Formats: sequence, C-alpha cells, structure tokens
Amino acid sequence: MIVRARPRYLEVAELDNLPPDLPRGSGFDNELYFNKARAALKFYIEQLNLFTNRKNRVATQAFNCEVVGDAVIEAGSTLVLMDVKLEDASISLEELKKTPELDVLILTHYQGLPNIEYHDIVDYCRSNNIVIIDDICLTEGSCIGTTLVGSLSDVALKSFAFDKPVTCLNGGSLTLNTECEFNEYLKEKYRLIQVESKRHELASIRALGYKLKYTNINIYYSGANATDVLVLLSYLKIPEVIIRMMSQWNLFVRVSNSLISRFRSKEIKIIRLGKHKKNLIGIQNDKKGSIEKPINKDSIKKWILDVSPKCTFFQEYECSVHWNRFSLIDESGELVEFLKSKDIEAGNHNWPKTLDEHLHGNNCVEIFGELENSKHLAKYIVNIPTWIDLEEYVKY
Ligand SMILES: Cc1ncc(COP(=O)(O)O)c(C=O)c1O
Repeated sequence: MIVRARPRYLEVAELDNLPPDLPRGSGFDNELYFNKARAALKFYIEQLNLFTNRKNRVATQAFNCEVVGDAVIEAGSTLVLMDVKLEDASISLEELKKTPELDVLILTHYQGLPNIEYHDIVDYCRSNNIVIIDDICLTEGSCIGTTLVGSLSDVALKSFAFDKPVTCLNGGSLTLNTECEFNEYLKEKYRLIQVESKRHELASIRALGYKLKYTNINIYYSGANATDVLVLLSYLKIPEVIIRMMSQWNLFVRVSNSLISRFRSKEIKIIRLGKHKKNLIGIQNDKKGSIEKPINKDSIKKWILDVSPKCTFFQEYECSVHWNRFSLIDESGELVEFLKSKDIEAGNHNWPKTLDEHLHGNNCVEIFGELENSKHLAKYIVNIPTWIDLEEYVKY
C-alpha cells in the first residue's frame, strides 16, 4: 500500500538513538515549539488579544483545516471566513481588500502551493496594520522565485504531525519573523507553559516508530493509523509484539481510537514540546537541508493526464514546490478510483467540509461572500502522494 503521506527524512533506526544534545536544525530563540500547530495558533491569538486588550478580528479561508477555526474561537477572537481562488486554493487580494476591519490574517498556503499573490497580500497587510500569520502547515519549504513561503509574515505556523514531511508524531511551532515588543512578551509567556512529560514524549516517539514500520509499502496494517491508541499502548509500555498484533485488528483499534477521542476533552490544550521531540525535528531539518529537491510537477502532470485526462491543475507560476502530496481537481472521480485499484491512497483526506459548515451556528463566526470556490474544492480536490515516485507504480 502506498499511503497518502509519510515523513521524508526519518528512518525507524534513528528513533532509538536520539542524541542527548539538540542538533543545529532544532530551532533558535525565535522558534517556539508546541504539542500541535493548533495549540501554537491558539496561544498566539490568545496572547495577542491579551496584549492589545481587545478581541481581535481574525480572517482566514473557509477551505481550511477545521482545527484552525476552533483555535481562533477558543482564543476568544471573532473568525471572519473568506473564499479562495481556484488558481491556488488560497485567498485573493481583491477579497481581502473588501473585508472590513481586520486585525489578523491567517494566510493559508495549500499543499506546497504558495499563494500566488503572496508579496502583494503581505504589502497590503503591512500598510493596513494587519498582523499576518503564514499558515505553512502544508507548505513548509516552497518558494516563489527566491522568496521562501513563511518568511515575509509576522509569524509562520508549522505542523509536525505524521502526515507532514518533518514529523514528531504530534507537534507544531511558531517562527517569529520580526523583532517587536509583542514577540518579547510572547516569549516570556511561552516560558511559563507546561512542558510535555518525558514519559508521554518517549511514548509518542515509540508510537511514531510503529507507524513508520507498519504503514510502509511492504507492510501495511490499517490499525497503525490509530495514533492515539498507539501512543496509549506505548505509554503503558505494552511490548511491541502485542502492539503489532493489535495493529492488524482494524476493528478493535478503530473502536478504541474513537472511545479515546470521545472521552478526551475537545478543548485545545497548550503544551510545550520537550527536548526529545525538538531533537527529532532538528535531525530531520538538518537532513532536509542537504537532500531536499522540489517536486517535478511536469512529470507528475503528464502521467496523471495519461490516466485521467479530465483532471485540471492549479496555476503554473514561478514557484518550487516541496511537499509530500500533489493537489489537483478531478470532478469525474476517475483518478481516485484508478489509484485505488493500484493500492495507492488518494483523495481530499483533510478538508471535506468548509469552516462555515463545521462551525455552523457559532456566533463568533462572520461569513464573507458566497464561499463558492471553497465548497467546490472541498468536493473535488484530490491529493496524491509524492513522497515516492509514483510513475512506475501507475504503469503496472
Ligand atoms: C493548514 C493547516 N493548519 C493547521 C493545521 C493543524 O495542525 P496540527 O494537527 O499540528 O494541529 C493543519 C493540519 O494539518 C493544517 O493543514
């Protein structure tokens, strides 16, 4: 089975021999690490509201990860939802200019594709005192020309979940791009946050190892998708032979995972990452720096059009894409069916509902416009794995 996404710079063996000191790529003073990206976002907005002593109005696109909306609302802000462009699955400058009284923009870049108006949107926000959060949870490493996405904003948000190229199973960070009074205040508040316990941290790293081993091309146990169960079993120090067996009982694992999520509080907890996970991220960042190369968009498009000629692609422009998935639009549904027949996972995966549907009836949400494009993409977008060269798999 070729799964939808896998870490790109990590081998199972490395997890057993983490160095005691932090490697070079594990961040600097301006990188703040959290248990998840959603927690990092909630923390940032919550602290901005406290610092400015008001409920900031935060805009983002409706075609988005649902936890982004949850984080903004839990932080006590008003969430303003905007539509996206069909060219890049991200907001347009024109719509932004029409959206009134914004304090913060969360600029989401989708699956390795930088927003094509990145420079202009940043300029507009700067001249209108709008704080920009670059959400690069799905786009870390992509460039427009020589500009790295995430580098022009006030702060960049990253995720280190299992489906990201760099992972620690669950984690996220804020990269503070500017020097200002608020950032100094933020760093002080960050130091006061509780750190993840060492036992939980090591259990997550063990669970990450199981996921790596049991979701690869040759061995695929669908139970290994149930991350929460794997972490719990690892936390309880259950021997690997039993975990391996359980990963093969799909029904048992799925039921346990949904029980865990039912009893767990839905509120986003803010926790700081410990040293071992930072280590892990650092090791992968170091490796990434030396071996990374952009996706070959032309060759991917070519074989896709051979098998499913009705697919359409996002706009071509001066950018290099670094990601473990490639996105396109397929209204016919043919491509997903074809890839399924080859044991390759493809589909929307993440955002089948737009944020207005997810937060329907919530009075902290303001909807701007019809959100037509967002709904279109939620229905027809297809993501295919690019952590492996698929061309040879589709031939046979
Ligand atoms: C664009 C975007 N923002 C934020 C998040 C939240 O990341 P996390 O699961 O680390 O909280 C995701 C999740 O993949 C995402 O796709």
